[in-house]
Amino acid sequence: MSFIVTEPCIQCKYTDCVEVCPMNCFVEGPNFLAIDPDGCIDCSMCVSECPVNAIVNAAEADASQQPYIALNAELARDLKWKPITRRKSPLPEHEKWRGVKDKRELLLEE
Ligand code: SF4
Ligand code: F3S
Repeated sequence: MSFIVTEPCIQCKYTDCVEVCPMNCFVEGPNFLAIDPDGCIDCSMCVSECPVNAIVNAAEADASQQPYIALNAELARDLKWKPITRRKSPLPEHEKWRGVKDKRELLLEE
């Protein structure tokens, strides 16, 4: 099991998480990041960096977070998404979207 990025990241993408990952596990899409489960060493350092608590241990994912286990793996292994290791500005409307719970249908895969 690894850590996973979940729904609160969608449309926000703060990217604070990527700076602390010792394994450079994060990949970036248009409005979401994913963690490559093959690289993650379960160090948990990224968890406290996320301002919207989007990162969780896959082994502790609740029912609503479970689908993100396969999703992170698929997106990270899909070579369309590139590694990201440096923090950058969040998405322009992050303040509007950070309080929205139901955003799954907005996730852009390319
Ligand atoms: Fe990287 Fe550690 Fe987070 Fe895994 S738990 S993505 S290794 S910072
Ligand atoms: Fe997303 Fe949180 Fe990282 S919003 S980009 S998981 S800091």
